[in-house]
Amino acid sequence: MSGDAIGVGLIGLGTIGTGVAKVLDGNASVISQRLGFSLRLVRVADLDTKTDRGIDLSGVQFDDDTAGLIADPKVDIVVELIGGYETARRFTLEAIAAGKHVVTANKALLAKHGKEIFEAAAKRGVDVAFEASVGGGIPILRSMREGLAANRIESLHGIMNGTTNYMLTEMESTGEAFEIVLKRAQDLGYAEADPTFDVDGIDAAHKLTLLVAMAYGAELTDDDIPTEGIRGLAPLDFEAAEKFGYRIKLLGIAKRREGPNGEERIEARVHPTMIPRESLLANVDGAMNAIAVHGDAVGPTLFYGAGAGEMPTASAVVADLMEVAREIRRGSAGRVAPLSYMPDHLERKPLVPPGEVHARCYLVFSAADEPGVLGQIASILGENGISIQSVIQQPLEPGARTVPVVVLTHPALEELVRSALAEIDQLSEVLAPTRLVRIEEDL
Ligand code: HSE
Repeated sequence: MSGDAIGVGLIGLGTIGTGVAKVLDGNASVISQRLGFSLRLVRVADLDTKTDRGIDLSGVQFDDDTAGLIADPKVDIVVELIGGYETARRFTLEAIAAGKHVVTANKALLAKHGKEIFEAAAKRGVDVAFEASVGGGIPILRSMREGLAANRIESLHGIMNGTTNYMLTEMESTGEAFEIVLKRAQDLGYAEADPTFDVDGIDAAHKLTLLVAMAYGAELTDDDIPTEGIRGLAPLDFEAAEKFGYRIKLLGIAKRREGPNGEERIEARVHPTMIPRESLLANVDGAMNAIAVHGDAVGPTLFYGAGAGEMPTASAVVADLMEVAREIRRGSAGRVAPLSYMPDHLERKPLVPPGEVHARCYLVFSAADEPGVLGQIASILGENGISIQSVIQQPLEPGARTVPVVVLTHPALEELVRSALAEIDQLSEVLAPTRLVRIEEDL
């Protein structure tokens, strides 16, 4: 070991913060053997200074004084682990203004305010590192920034939310409805009391925003990404998916496409997706995450691991601390392009409008069980140029007013599908909005 330790200040001693303290302490020797110097937790700030987290903080100043932590000359790197948008934004910008490097796991913060934060950091010559924000413990951002840096990224498909992947796995294996499985996910601590961010796809959209920036140099916020969650899925969809040879996953999808004049356009979206049962992503079950990245030189790659949890997330936070500490020691901090592209090559890029997505579709119509209804549905699809591949009409359940009619289409433009569905949903014999799940086959 040589030289003095690099000092770490931790804001937020919740689950992940506690994991970071454990890794810094428990793995101190391997960390210093790899760095050539040590990383030392010198200060922790949290509003709750009473709860016993089961860790030894002797020698660490622990109070609720965030401003004092940021200003403390012993703190070289500030770790922000409080989550949320506004307070986290303020602490992060204050730390940068004080010349401190920042490590964060906060995808929501970066998907909303990334531009402001990265610009402030570049101006001040400090690092902002955020490996833990996407895929928890999976080193996907470092792989995009370094290991795959020579490639044009053709496509990226990711299971980026463990809560919904657990729920989809359970819905498929038990045949239970969304609400029942959500309750179980909440009881097990996967889903929050307010599950909106996870089940409505918002958390996945935050993560996709960061991946799209790293893959294409595209400056977006999560508001730019068409996002649909898993609330609308019913047990029938999982049975039908199995019959057709698919499984249902909530995917974040990004693709490089060409515009009419050969310009680069980006397709980016989050939605439940049917994917071939034999694909690697289809076999990622439970709360695990996986991201498949296809580079033009490397071909297909797959990154798999725990997307959340105390120790996996702490693993990514401490890896960032080590990288930033090395930069500080080399005197080159602030020179790594955090989003993989140099700041002057980050720009708003044209997105492919959702209507131009071309995919096979799974549709469920809620039709009255009367003569001619199926014919009307088929002819409206046909008039819109949508070709049917398969139809399954389920039996009428006792007491039900409608039968679900399941249609699998050949690949079709989404705007044509949407206009056909608008027409079909107007029919007096169609009693509820039609359900649409897109299918991805080129995984
Ligand atoms: N709630 C997220 C998930 C983890 O279920 O994957 C944090 O992003």
